[in-house]
Amino acid sequence: MDGKVLVTGGAGFLGSHAALALLEAGHEVVIYDNLCNSSPAVPGRVAALAGRPPDVIEGDIRDAGRLRRLFAEHRIGAVMHFAGLKSVADGQARPLEYYDNNVAGSAVLLAEMERAGVRTLVFSSSATVYGEGGGGSAAQESLPLAPTSVYGRTKRIVEDMIRDQAASGAGLRHALLRYFNPVGAHPSGRLGESPRGRPNNLLPFVAQVAAGLRPKLQVFGGDYPTPDGTGRRDYLHVQDLIDGHLAALRAVAAGEASLVANLGTGRPHSVLEVVRAFEKASGRPVPFEIVDRRPGDLAEYWADPTHARELFGWKASRDLATMCVDAWRWQTHVMREDA
Ligand code: NAD
Ligand code: WQD
Repeated sequence: MDGKVLVTGGAGFLGSHAALALLEAGHEVVIYDNLCNSSPAVPGRVAALAGRPPDVIEGDIRDAGRLRRLFAEHRIGAVMHFAGLKSVADGQARPLEYYDNNVAGSAVLLAEMERAGVRTLVFSSSATVYGEGGGGSAAQESLPLAPTSVYGRTKRIVEDMIRDQAASGAGLRHALLRYFNPVGAHPSGRLGESPRGRPNNLLPFVAQVAAGLRPKLQVFGGDYPTPDGTGRRDYLHVQDLIDGHLAALRAVAAGEASLVANLGTGRPHSVLEVVRAFEKASGRPVPFEIVDRRPGDLAEYWADPTHARELFGWKASRDLATMCVDAWRWQTHVMREDA
């Protein structure tokens, strides 16, 4: 594939891991990020790990002029689009911000891509597009999309925009990747997830309890119809997720016109299984109490990852223990560095 890879949201949790993997695979990379949910120190860590720097531009995907200059200054061959707001709860509280950022921002990006003749796109979608339909059985891409959250609806709308743009004759080759629960960190311990304030997600919260930063974990519901009564999810190592992105990029850059695929292991784990795995990985206790269910949570959902294996030969390889070991190394590294 000719040209650089533009990684929108490339200072974030997933985008920074993607930028590193792309550099390591020999690509030239441009990170574009407004830093609304990430640290300006992250691209420097990516450069140090890769041994060479990406180009880094601070900007907003809603800024058409800044994107136009970027496409004029850099020969971009493909875009990996991670930029976006991602909290389900926050989306319910700030719907217009989510529609403006995730939907309007993606529309501006697509328009500037078309203007610049950039026709290869990998989009970070989400399992939340399935809504209730993705619960209780292995979610397949053919499931009707019925997102039940503002956030999930923004992801479905962007998927539709991309498909409609491709169908208009713009020649937009694209991969829509639906992530389940990405967790863990780069094995170096120098890249990872840095939630601001109280983590919404399970893994970073458990890591902070193990590190003694929080007294205990609240387990949201112990009465679900699951083997141990707690919620089950398809946790996926961030490195497996990024391997999937590079495989999908290769497929689309090689001429695959359009693909949609789940990125998950197909093997759900319960909250209590995660707690036990993290205690083993860290050697630290993770005290918890079981409280009421969190509104909007499904009992369980997980991926059917068959499509990704068939379309671009991808299969997750890292297990829950590895996810916890790498997450713990990142937690203790961040502790050291930020102490
Ligand atoms: P993140 O918040 O760590 O990274 C997103 C990055 O995008 C941040 O660096 C943020 O500063 C940047 N950004 C946000 N709005 C922007 C804008 N308007 N212009 C430019 N930059 C902007 O989140 P993440 O976990 O890395 O997720 C990346 C993508 O993957 C998101 O689109 C998210 O919806 C999606 N996703 C994440 C998960 C997950 O559990 N982490 C699961 C499914 C899908
Ligand atoms: C996992 C499990 C909770 C925290 C979210 C977003 C989804 C996607 C991935 C973007 C559930 C339980 C959690 C806690 C708990 N992101 N839990 N105590 O809700 O499956 O998915 O992140 O696309 O959109 O919805 O992930 O990590 O919040 O919860 O018991 O303090 O852990 O009930 O069973 P979720 P999560």
